[in-house]
Amino acid sequence: MERQSSKEMEQRKGRRLVLFPLPLQGHINPMLHLANILHSRGYSITIIHTNFNSPDPSNYPHFTFHFFSENLPEDGTCATDLIAFLSLLNTRCGPPFRQCLANLLSETSEEPVACLISDAILYFTQEVANELKLPRLVLRTGAASSFCVFTAFPLLKERGYIPIQDSRLEEPVVELPPLRVKDLPVIDTPDPESLYRLVAGMVNQSKASSGLIWNTFEELEHSALETLDRQLGVPLFPIGPFHKCFPVSTSSLSPQDESCISWLDKQEHKSVLYVSFGSLAAVNETEFLEVAWGLANSKQPFLWVVRPGLIRGSEWLEPLPNGFLETLGGRGHVVKWAPQQQVLAHSAVGAFWTHNGWNSTLESMCEGIPMICMPCFTDQRVNARYVSEIWRVGVQLEKGMERGEIERTIKRLMVEKDGEEIRERVLHLKKAALCLSQGGSSRHSLDRLVHHISSLESFTFQSQ
Ligand code: UDX
Repeated sequence: MERQSSKEMEQRKGRRLVLFPLPLQGHINPMLHLANILHSRGYSITIIHTNFNSPDPSNYPHFTFHFFSENLPEDGTCATDLIAFLSLLNTRCGPPFRQCLANLLSETSEEPVACLISDAILYFTQEVANELKLPRLVLRTGAASSFCVFTAFPLLKERGYIPIQDSRLEEPVVELPPLRVKDLPVIDTPDPESLYRLVAGMVNQSKASSGLIWNTFEELEHSALETLDRQLGVPLFPIGPFHKCFPVSTSSLSPQDESCISWLDKQEHKSVLYVSFGSLAAVNETEFLEVAWGLANSKQPFLWVVRPGLIRGSEWLEPLPNGFLETLGGRGHVVKWAPQQQVLAHSAVGAFWTHNGWNSTLESMCEGIPMICMPCFTDQRVNARYVSEIWRVGVQLEKGMERGEIERTIKRLMVEKDGEEIRERVLHLKKAALCLSQGGSSRHSLDRLVHHISSLESFTFQSQ
C-alpha cells in the first residue's frame, strides 16, 4: 500500500487509535489488517484484547497491546454455543474493558486517543465509549449485504419468516430477493431470543456510533451500501479488501502448515480444489465421510483443511477408512490449518469449496477463484446466495453433503464447459478488487475516513 505524504503523516503523529476486535479468528484478522492500514496513515495503534484467543503481540512490534480477563464462565457453554459466547462477551466484559480503556486514556496524555474502533458485535462498547466521552467507530467484518438482512430482523419476525419453520425453507423472502427462507442468517441455538437481542444490539449500537468501516468495496456491494446509508444515518467507509494491502497475515491463532505450498508447487495449473470450512463450523461423522468420498470420486486433486474440532466427537482424521488417503496416490493433501491467502494465490488452485465466511469469500474473489458454497450458519448463508445468484462466481451445494452431488459439482465448476462462465466472471471481479490502489473507490473512502477521524479528534480533545 502506498504511504502518505510525510506532511500528512507528521500531522497525525502523536494521534492514537484504540482498536478492540471480537476474539474470533474471522474477526481478529480483519481488525489487525485495519490496524496496519491506519498505522500506515500515520496513527499510533493500541489493541485492547481479551486474554482468550489473544494474537501474538511479537508479530506486531509497531502496536501496543493491552489484555484483560473477560470473566467468562468455565462450564463449557462458550465452547459449544456461539450465541451464548457472544452474548456473554457483551454482558460480562463491560467493567474490565471500561477499566482498561479508562487507564489507557489517563496514561496517554502525550499521545491523545482520537477514537475507539470496535467490532460491531461487541456492541456494549458504545455505552463505555459514551461514558468516557470517546467517539466510537464500528468495524463490521462481514458483508454489507448480510448486514442489510440483520437490519430487517424485526420485519422478518413480524412477517413470520423467523424463527424458521422447516416446511418453509424453499420459500422466497419476497422482501429480500434473491434470498429464500433457508438463506436467512440464523443459527441453531437453544435460545433464539438471545440471537435476536444480539442482532438488535449490533444494529442499534452501530446506528449510535460515529460511523461504520466495512471490509468490502463499492463495486461489489453498491446497492447494499446505498440501502445502509439510508437506514443507519451514520457515515459508511467501505475500504476493503483489507487483506490486499499487506502481503501476509500474521494474526493466525493456529500454526499454518506450510507443507501444502510445496505440495501445490507439484500440481498442475488450476487443477487443485482447496477445501476449508473456516474456524468455527463443524460437521458430523457421516457428513465428513460424504465430503471425503465426494472428493475422492471427483478425481480432482484436493487440498483439504481438517481443523481439529471440525468433526464433532473426533480428534482429527480417525473417521476416515484405513488407508483412504494412500489409495489416492498423492492426489489429496490434508492439513490442520493452511496459510489460506497464500494457497488461494497459488497458480495450482482452481476452485475453493468454502463455508462462505466473509473473509474466505472475499479472499477467494480477490484471487479470481470460483467457489463451491456450503454455508453453515448466520451471514455465511447470505454470502453463499450472493456468490451463486448475484455475483455468480460460484455454485451452491443445494442438497448438503451428499457424495454424488459433491462429485458432480466439483466437475461442473472445475472441468466442464458449464463452469466456464463462472470461472471467467470471477476473474473480472478480481480486477474490480484492485480498488484500494491510487484513485480507486476504497482508497477514496479511506481518505474520507482519515478526515472523519480528524473531525472526531477535535470533538474528543475539547471534551476531555
Ligand atoms: C466467522 C463466521 O463463521 C463467519 O460467518 C463470519 O463471516 C466471519 O467469522 P470463520 O469461520 O472464521 O468465520 O471464516 P472466515 O470469515 O472465512 O475467516 C477465516 C479466516 O481464517 C480467513 O481469513 C482465512 O484466511 C483464515 N484461515 C482459514 C487460515 O488462515 N487458514 C485456514 O486453514 C483456514
